[in-house]
Amino acid sequence: MGQTSTSLCCIFICFMLAQTVFQVESANILFFFGVSSYSHRLPAWPLVTGLAEKGHNVTFLSPFKAKNPHPKVVDYAPRKFSEWAESWDEMNMFDMRKKGDMYKQWLILPYFGIAMCEKLYSDEEFINWVKSSTYDLVFIDALFNECGYGMAHIFGAKVIQFDTTTVFPWYSSAFGSPDETNWIPDMAYVFGANEVTFQNRLINALIPVGWDLFRSWIYFPQLEEITRTGLSTTDLPTFQDIEKNVSMIFLNTYYSEEFARALPPNMVSIGGIAYVEKRTPLPKDLAAFLEKGNGFIYVSFGTVADLQKMDASTQQAIIGALQSFPELQFVWKLRNDSLLKEFPNGNVYISNWMPQQDILSHPKIKAFITHSGLIGIQESIYNAVPLISFPIFAEQDYNAERVHRNEYGIRLEITTVNQAELEDAISKVVNDSKYDPDFKFTQYSTNDA
Ligand SMILES: *[C@@H]1O[C@H](CO)[C@@H](O)[C@H](O)[C@H]1NC(C)=O
Ligand SMILES: *[C@@H]1O[C@H](CO)[C@@H](O)[C@H](O)[C@H]1NC(C)=O
Ligand SMILES: *[C@@H]1O[C@H](CO)[C@@H](O)[C@H](O)[C@H]1NC(C)=O
Ligand SMILES: *[C@@H]1O[C@H](CO)[C@@H](O)[C@H](O)[C@H]1NC(C)=O
Repeated sequence: MGQTSTSLCCIFICFMLAQTVFQVESANILFFFGVSSYSHRLPAWPLVTGLAEKGHNVTFLSPFKAKNPHPKVVDYAPRKFSEWAESWDEMNMFDMRKKGDMYKQWLILPYFGIAMCEKLYSDEEFINWVKSSTYDLVFIDALFNECGYGMAHIFGAKVIQFDTTTVFPWYSSAFGSPDETNWIPDMAYVFGANEVTFQNRLINALIPVGWDLFRSWIYFPQLEEITRTGLSTTDLPTFQDIEKNVSMIFLNTYYSEEFARALPPNMVSIGGIAYVEKRTPLPKDLAAFLEKGNGFIYVSFGTVADLQKMDASTQQAIIGALQSFPELQFVWKLRNDSLLKEFPNGNVYISNWMPQQDILSHPKIKAFITHSGLIGIQESIYNAVPLISFPIFAEQDYNAERVHRNEYGIRLEITTVNQAELEDAISKVVNDSKYDPDFKFTQYSTNDA
């Protein structure tokens, strides 16, 4: 008798479980990545495609169409908005950096966010799209895409901030994360472990206050006005109120690689989701090139920084340093292969597109010379590839500071580097195992999406 009721009970529980597991509800999900370089898409893409494969209706709104479209993801690039994005004049980061003006990028970017919002809301096609769409959840690229708050409000959707890097200085007032400026440098004001002076800490502590004032008094009122006018509505809460309802913040960080921050439960560290375990074979010519050598260094300054915009002396320092290691091979991501003539013994391979993860996981790789983008650093750490880290813009100084402190490699300064310094760094990272990063990121399964 007892046994029968136990089995009945068991069957009942199994039945209930099956109900919950198999009753898949699909949702309409929007990713709003307006002010984003194409590279912001990369850390989000596994989540985007993972959600689509689970049966959700996923739309990715950005100025660029996907280079590798997914059949189940709707890529929406409003026509006028993309045309405008084509005319974006890239800032010359090298010039700005040389003048010590890098803080200016942080003053320019939010106005870019405002200009983008204005562009979108002055486009009839986009306004009709907003009015005729329904979404349950909106992911917003956390770097100056708050224009999306208005849309989320119209849709009645939940909001998740997708942060392609770490905690931004305005998070303490916006989302209640503890302010740890007493020891963690702001990403726009990086200082070393031995420079935790009163002055540095004071400036560091004032930065979030500045952001708070700017957002409340300048940035949000302008975005609200643009949204109200664009959608011809008077019924719009303040963006601060919408922001208070943000459900979660996803950070592209990994707890043992970032500074040891105290994150509240609404901030989830998802660094490493972009890492794909499955390797695809290298392009044939690259595979054949690497076959011939005994070890190579991968050189890439990312999608935004262009070697041809660097000073002639910097270009010469890099070229000269690479020329002085004829026994090593170099795989160099460059838009233009005219430099091949500088390497007559054929130890350099140049292409404007590189399968970065497949290269960084190649058994013959010795080091990575990088602009210190977060994804490249994470991929290198995963593969124990030491770095030569040249921070250029955005939060790259902050990333390079961790490369330096944790000895994942050597940090150099792009605006002053000379050939001897780079040669020395190459010898060290190639020959000194002290610089090998030594841990693996745990895989986050996008199946959890
Ligand atoms: C997802 O899109 C399909 C096809 O357009 C539609 O039939 C379905 O109702 C949508 N799902 C939701 C949750 O709206
Ligand atoms: C915030 O969320 C609550 C609960 O869902 C809702 O009642 C309120 O209207 C929302 N506020 C705004 C400004 O969206
Ligand atoms: C490649 O670079 C060389 C030298 O800097 C320049 O003369 C040439 O126009 C460039 N080619 C292209 C296609 O940009
Ligand atoms: C590494 O050390 C070996 C042995 O001293 C030397 O032959 C080689 O040139 C060094 N490699 C680099 C890249 O400095």
